[in-house]
Amino acid sequence: KGHYTVPIIEGDGIGPEISEAVKEIYRAAKVPIDWLPVDVTPRLINGKTSIPSETIEAINKHKIALKGPLATPVGKGHVSLNLTLRRTFNLFANVRPCKSIKGYKTPYDNVDTVLIRENTEGEYSGIEHTVVPGVVQSIKLITRGASERVCRYAFEHARNTGKSKVLVVHKATVMKLGDGLFLEAALAVAKDYPDISVHTELIDNTCLKMVTDPSPYQEYVMVMPNLYGDIMSDLCSGLIGGLGLTPSGNMGVETSIFEAVHGSAPDIAGKGVANPTALLLSSVMMLQHMGLSSHADKIENAVLTTLASGPENITRDLRGSASTKHFTEQVISRL
Ligand code: IPM
Ligand code: MN
Repeated sequence: KGHYTVPIIEGDGIGPEISEAVKEIYRAAKVPIDWLPVDVTPRLINGKTSIPSETIEAINKHKIALKGPLATPVGKGHVSLNLTLRRTFNLFANVRPCKSIKGYKTPYDNVDTVLIRENTEGEYSGIEHTVVPGVVQSIKLITRGASERVCRYAFEHARNTGKSKVLVVHKATVMKLGDGLFLEAALAVAKDYPDISVHTELIDNTCLKMVTDPSPYQEYVMVMPNLYGDIMSDLCSGLIGGLGLTPSGNMGVETSIFEAVHGSAPDIAGKGVANPTALLLSSVMMLQHMGLSSHADKIENAVLTTLASGPENITRDLRGSASTKHFTEQVISRL
């Protein structure tokens, strides 16, 4: 196997610390990757948020990137950089798995969900305007093209990972046209996958059932419109211990960006106590995508066994006492 170059967006707040942990672990595991730090400092060009063209070129060239947290301000000004990245590279499917971590106690020990979120439109289309003062329209844009594309991705994902069911989550009882179109697209795509059964469920009901007993959802790949996926993926993440533990991958046609979904945690930035797990597990998804599965397995195993090895080896957000450095050393010792 040759050598790979992977652009890395270290991110804000705790981003540099958790990125450093990933790099140290990769060095110790002898993963054949050279990291290429790229700058995403936003530039406002004609009222649109853009990222530096050198960065766009680097990510397009290498077709991959690993990304730490980028702060998203509330309200006016720049469009979230996170969303700009997804849009710039047309990363249409956001894959978010949540699996219970052995040895880390939560009310459930059997969570194993995979959620695929439409990643380019819906309420995230950025189409909002004031009609008259006090009246705002926020457009939820749904297209057949994007709906079919993400649903096809979900069925392929099910097939490739040995799951025999796809669950389409929606609210077409109320969003008759928008979610109706998403649902229709999903059912049309399902016809191409006779080996996989298609199921549908209303988003509120999925939330209720998921927090009551997540185990039936192990059998499914879930697929849903953008905002539902945003909310539902945090819900699933909460079932296993929070965003500090869950990976994600933004998948495009050619290019993919793997990212930790948690925030930049400015309150603990620079203190050496951040938890690099989410970024590490996102990088494991990246390695699998690159076909470096033996490195992926080795690192995943070391991370999971470290997380199960007691409070002195895990970070404070997980009710442990370890520094980022100590946690990193523990992972390296288990490679
Ligand atoms: C996520 C985040 C982003 C989103 C924010 C930061 C814009 O919450 O990746 O889930 O809403 O998609
Ligand atoms: Mn979110």
